[in-house]
Order: sequence, then C-alpha cells, then structure tokens
Amino acid sequence: MTLIHWIGVPINILLNKLGFNISRIRDETDTKYLAIIKELEGVYKEFLFKDLPINDKRRIHLMGKLEGTEPSEALYLLNYLHKSLKLKGDVCEFGVANGATSALIAYEIKSTDKCIWLFDSFQGLPKPSEKDVLLNDIYRLGSIEAYEGRMACPIDSVHAKLKDIDFSQSRTRIIPGFINDTIKSSILPGKVCFAYVDFDFYEPIRTALNFLDTVISANGFIMVDDYGFFSAGAKYAVDEFLEAKKGNYQTYHPIESAGKFCILKRTEKD
Ligand SMILES: C[S@@+](CC[C@H](N)C(=O)[O-])C[C@H]1O[C@@H](n2cnc3c(N)ncnc32)[C@H](O)[C@@H]1O
Repeated sequence: MTLIHWIGVPINILLNKLGFNISRIRDETDTKYLAIIKELEGVYKEFLFKDLPINDKRRIHLMGKLEGTEPSEALYLLNYLHKSLKLKGDVCEFGVANGATSALIAYEIKSTDKCIWLFDSFQGLPKPSEKDVLLNDIYRLGSIEAYEGRMACPIDSVHAKLKDIDFSQSRTRIIPGFINDTIKSSILPGKVCFAYVDFDFYEPIRTALNFLDTVISANGFIMVDDYGFFSAGAKYAVDEFLEAKKGNYQTYHPIESAGKFCILKRTEKD
C-alpha cells in the first residue's frame, strides 16, 4: 500500500459517511482502459459469446464510461440483450442511477422499434428489509441501514445520457418513484423481451421479478445484478422467485471473474 493509498482510504471513508462517494470518471481519453476492454471483448467473443456484435463506437463512448457495471458484466448484458431482440417486447432497467447502463442498452436498440423502460426512485435506496444482510460494505458505512437514501442520482443525468446517443424520446419511458408504488400506479410495459434488474435490495427485486413474470416473452432474459454481493437480499429474492416458479426459468451464472449476477431465461410458455 502506497502513502497515497494509505491517506486515501480514510478520506474515502469519511466522505462516504458524509454522504459522498468518489468514483473515477473515465472518458474517451483513457486509451489504456479502452484497450483492456477491447481485449476482453475479443476474448469473450472468441470463447463465450460467438454471436456478440462488436462495435467500436459503443466501446469508446459507452462501455468506457460505465460506473456501476464492470466491463465483463456489460458483455454478458449485451450478449443476452442481443439474444432477446428478435423476441416480442420492450427492454427495461430496474435501478438506473445516473443512466450509464441505460445508455448502453438504449444504444443497442436504436435501430429497432422497441421502447426502453427505466425505473428508479431517483431518491436512492429504500429502507432495507431484514433479508438485506450486509455482505460487502461497498461504501464503508458500517451497516446496511446506513445505505438508505444512498445512490440517489438526478433524473436529468439519465435524460442527458440518452440525448448524447440520440435515442428517440418517443421510445423512452422513465418511471420515477419507488417501485412498490409505481408498479401499482404507472403505465407499464405489456411485453418485455429483456430486463436488467439492479435494485440491490430484497423487496424491490422481488417486486420487479414478480411483475416481469407476467410480461416476459418466452425465451426472454432477466439479468439480476448483485447475486451474492453487497446485500444478501438480491440472492434471496432470486432464489425465492425461482423456487416459486419452478420449471419456468433456466438460470445461467457467469464465470467467477465476471462478477456477481445471474441470468434467468423464461422457458417456453404453455
Ligand atoms: C446500483 S444502482 C443502479 C445502477 C445502474 N443500474 C447502473 O448500472 O449504473 C441502484 C439504483 O436502484 C434504485 N432503487 C433501489 N431501490 C429502489 C426502489 N425500491 N424503487 C426505485 N428505485 C430503487 C436506486 O435509486 C439506485 O439508483
């Protein structure tokens, strides 16, 4: 550990406790990082995702700027998103934050007629439930309760990111509010081919999965982030859902180095 690291750790802890989070902003000038993503993309395409379309513009302008989603996870997301695009239905993200992953998803559906549905409180995480046991103290706050209200981002930053990639406003549906309310009162997608669920906590993930079960196309994919990471609630919600829907979903788990998430594929419906 260098002196800078040694000084940096307590500063980060202190800022986290005050409600700030330092994250590194990367951009098109970070050529070393982009070169690593390119290499990773090549390896994944060669050995895992043979049909994954490669796109330099996407890598440079979107993959390099992701914040909550690591490049390997993004490649899984892109792979299963592309497998879903031939199916009927729109695409959704549950837990959007500042919209970096939303822009990545939106970019892939630009040439289709699909809508993107983006659900977020824009007030950060809700109160955790008793199922939300802290597994990884990512902001070093000391308890899961301290995460309530964290990760709040302004809705304007999502609009700005979609505007940057010139995504059609008429195919954008941003649904602000806590999911337990919006799922009852909002206009919702009637059919979904792909969803990325990144709500972190048990209750909202359970709500999203139960809703998706009613609208997901046969052979459509649901990707749930943080399966066994940060809060135990994400894995709990997924396992409980799969148990209740036995036989209706096939699950895929990433290679260990790719991160903590899981993918559910809706099997053929009767
Ligand atoms: C990890 S962040 C999402 C990161 C984003 N998917 C990305 O890749 O950049 C989790 C988000 O979920 C939202 N969220 C968590 N629980 C929610 C709930 N019950 N209703 C609505 N939004 C919620 C938070 O506001 C936060 O923006």
